[in-house]
Amino acid sequence: MTSVHGFAIVIMAAGKGTRLKSKRAKVLHQIGGKPLLAHVISAAIQVAPPENVYVVVGHQAEEVRSAVQQTGVRFVLQSPQNGTGHAIMCAREQVQQYENILVLSGDVPLIQPATIARLRDFHLAHKAAMTILTAEPADPAGYGRIVRKSSSGDAVKAIVEQKSLNRQQEKIKEINSGIYAFAVKPLLANLDRLTANNVHGEFYLTDVAALLSQNKDKNKDKARVVALKAADPAEVLGANTLAELADLDATMRLRKARQLMASGVAIYRPETCVIDSEVEIAPDTTIEPFVQILGRTRIGADCHIRSYSIIRDSQIADRVQIRAGSILDQSKVSSDVVLGPYSHLRPGADLGEGAHVGNFVEVKKSRLGRGSKANHLAYLGDSEIGAGVNVGAGTITCNYDGADKYVTVIEDGAFIGSNSTLVAPVRVGKASYVAAGSTITHNVPEDALALGRARQAVKEGWAKERRARRGKTK
Ligand code: UD1
Ligand code: CA
Repeated sequence: MTSVHGFAIVIMAAGKGTRLKSKRAKVLHQIGGKPLLAHVISAAIQVAPPENVYVVVGHQAEEVRSAVQQTGVRFVLQSPQNGTGHAIMCAREQVQQYENILVLSGDVPLIQPATIARLRDFHLAHKAAMTILTAEPADPAGYGRIVRKSSSGDAVKAIVEQKSLNRQQEKIKEINSGIYAFAVKPLLANLDRLTANNVHGEFYLTDVAALLSQNKDKNKDKARVVALKAADPAEVLGANTLAELADLDATMRLRKARQLMASGVAIYRPETCVIDSEVEIAPDTTIEPFVQILGRTRIGADCHIRSYSIIRDSQIADRVQIRAGSILDQSKVSSDVVLGPYSHLRPGADLGEGAHVGNFVEVKKSRLGRGSKANHLAYLGDSEIGAGVNVGAGTITCNYDGADKYVTVIEDGAFIGSNSTLVAPVRVGKASYVAAGSTITHNVPEDALALGRARQAVKEGWAKERRARRGKTK
């Protein structure tokens, strides 16, 4: 391996997360629509190139690795998981090529790249051996506390874990964020001196602070342990329980909503909306309460998204109206479309400009051309529908025979009468009509009328005669 100078980032993500009481590894639990670890990695790779970012995996290592490997980061295995100090011991070979490293925790997901960069710069400016990112949150319970050498100055004497706090230390409000910078040489020299004499029988990375600050190092300057307080404590909160996870999720959603509002998107009651971090929305679009916009969704300008709609991984152009209770998944909606209420666009739905899809209409893997309408109670699956088509209420494409799927083609300007059944594969020609209540099993040529229903028979007086037979007047 070639020697690399400068910084690496190590992300500790091997722990089980016992306090979540979940079988899924903690760092795979999601906030803002992405795993905790994905947020930390995305901040890290804005500060260092991904090949200098090492993620320590252990519990459910394979699942964790495959969830984030497309980011290009590297992985280090910690097995078994004997604590945060042990996590760094496992990365010894990787980190010894660097002069300094940053250590992040996989369960502290709101950290911002600018803060990581500030920690790095502060650490270098102080020529510190260890720099701890700290904070003073409203409730310090559960966190390691920072014992400073004096009330003034940056120097730190030790980090004391919650369970080992004495009476005096219980009053300390400054917490350890689990995010650090280290000079590699003094770090590695002291890792081996860690012991597991604590309630968990683990090697605590936090104990390195006391070892380094005892100043046994010959070069006093280099052994300094200092603290840098984060400007916003919310950025360094960790997630150990599902309740804390929900708090972080709420913080992240609100952060996202505020960014969108700052850019001109109106969001009513933002605290009720769930908008994933990668969603993009253009100015002058309005989002009503209780809307979810998820995954890689993009929404254009001047759209109106009404309450109870759930939109995932979809592309929506400008001036689109999505009425209440509509569900969109992996769909494409062109400008000026009117959708809903209660429409369901499933993967591969593609609505052309000005199309209308209305109440209780389900569209799957189908293209609707410009200005086409399907306003009520229809199923359009595997279909190619041209421009200016009118699909009547209750129209069903029969696309599946129990084994294979078939395509229905409806050409420009065709009119499909209500309650028609189109048995695919079938084609309805340009400008033709399908009479209401038809079952269409053969192609319909251009400009034709297709009637696929039984002729109506009327038996005059039948009801009266029946009543007479049964001796009743009604
Ligand atoms: C840790 C700190 C505590 C700090 C808090 C901030 C220690 C001993 N304590 O406590 O001072 O206030 O973070 O959130 O470090 N991990 C591994 N391998 C392990 C154990 C943990 O990779 O063997 C990873 C976890 O997956 C997690 C991170 O390290 O992402 C922190 O571990 P966790 O057990 O949550 O530490 P805390 O008890 O929160
Ligand atoms: Ca934690």
